[in-house]
Amino acid sequence: MPSLAGKHCVISGGSRGIGLAIARLFASEGAGCTLIGRDPHRLASAVGSLPPSTTTTQHQQQHASSAFDVSSATGWEKLRADMKDQKCDILINAAGITQNSFLFKTSDSSINEIIATNLTGTVWGCKTFIPKMMKQKEGCIINISSLLATHGGKGASVYAASKAGVVGLTRSLAWEVGRFGIRANVLLPGYIQTDMTKEMDKNGELSASIPLGRQGLAEEVADAALFLARNSYAHNCVLNIDGGLSAT
Ligand SMILES: NC(=O)c1ccc[n+]([C@@H]2O[C@H](COP(=O)([O-])OP(=O)(O)OC[C@H]3O[C@@H](n4cnc5c(N)ncnc54)[C@H](OP(=O)(O)O)[C@@H]3O)[C@@H](O)[C@H]2O)c1
Repeated sequence: MPSLAGKHCVISGGSRGIGLAIARLFASEGAGCTLIGRDPHRLASAVGSLPPSTTTTQHQQQHASSAFDVSSATGWEKLRADMKDQKCDILINAAGITQNSFLFKTSDSSINEIIATNLTGTVWGCKTFIPKMMKQKEGCIINISSLLATHGGKGASVYAASKAGVVGLTRSLAWEVGRFGIRANVLLPGYIQTDMTKEMDKNGELSASIPLGRQGLAEEVADAALFLARNSYAHNCVLNIDGGLSAT
């Protein structure tokens, strides 16, 4: 029996990259997935690429998508209403945008957008689904932070701040929600090959700086997420998945 059979998973940032790799792996383990992103066409193609989930009941539908900006409370409110009769066993907050500019050159609107997407969007996601998980008396939240949350990064001050916030959020939630049967964990990927990083390693210098000598794959992050989803004692894990970059 697939390990996530009968589970339903909501994944922000599920239209591509790490979020989509998680959706593909979780669907192959039997979960139904609701993917969130901004672009409805990309979402439709992502949903179409998922293996069919193994069970369809009143509370666990097949895959679906919802197109909205995660920084908008009303977008989350609409999803909550749309999923009124459906359970959410696992919430993955992976939607995010990056930054490549020193703080003094970063526009006010970019600063607001990075914080609103990466941090506020994750807060809204958790706030939306925790009450449902409390009623279910179980649930699993996996937030995607970044190695830069703990190590910082040149040209990534606002991004690093937003991702440090995601770590603080997750660890606080671990205190708040554990007694309701809800587990909260956070992944700190290093450099992973996705659209977000495709311009970063053109001369190979970045890969050379990583102890394992290469960027990670989205599938490798998905594998770590599956461990967190399956392991019933994994709670408040702050898990690096960075090819050893955190050791440098
Ligand atoms: N790649 C890395 O090296 C790396 C390292 C550490 C942490 N991370 C984190 O991992 C997560 C996934 O990154 P990735 O590399 O997979 O990035 P990606 O390939 O650029 O994908 C980003 C995803 O987030 C969605 N998204 C962005 N802004 C959104 C918004 N305002 N509302 C709704 N959805 C939004 C995108 O949706 P659309 O398709 O609709 O734009 C897309 O699904 C991010 O939180 C990122 O910070 C990545």
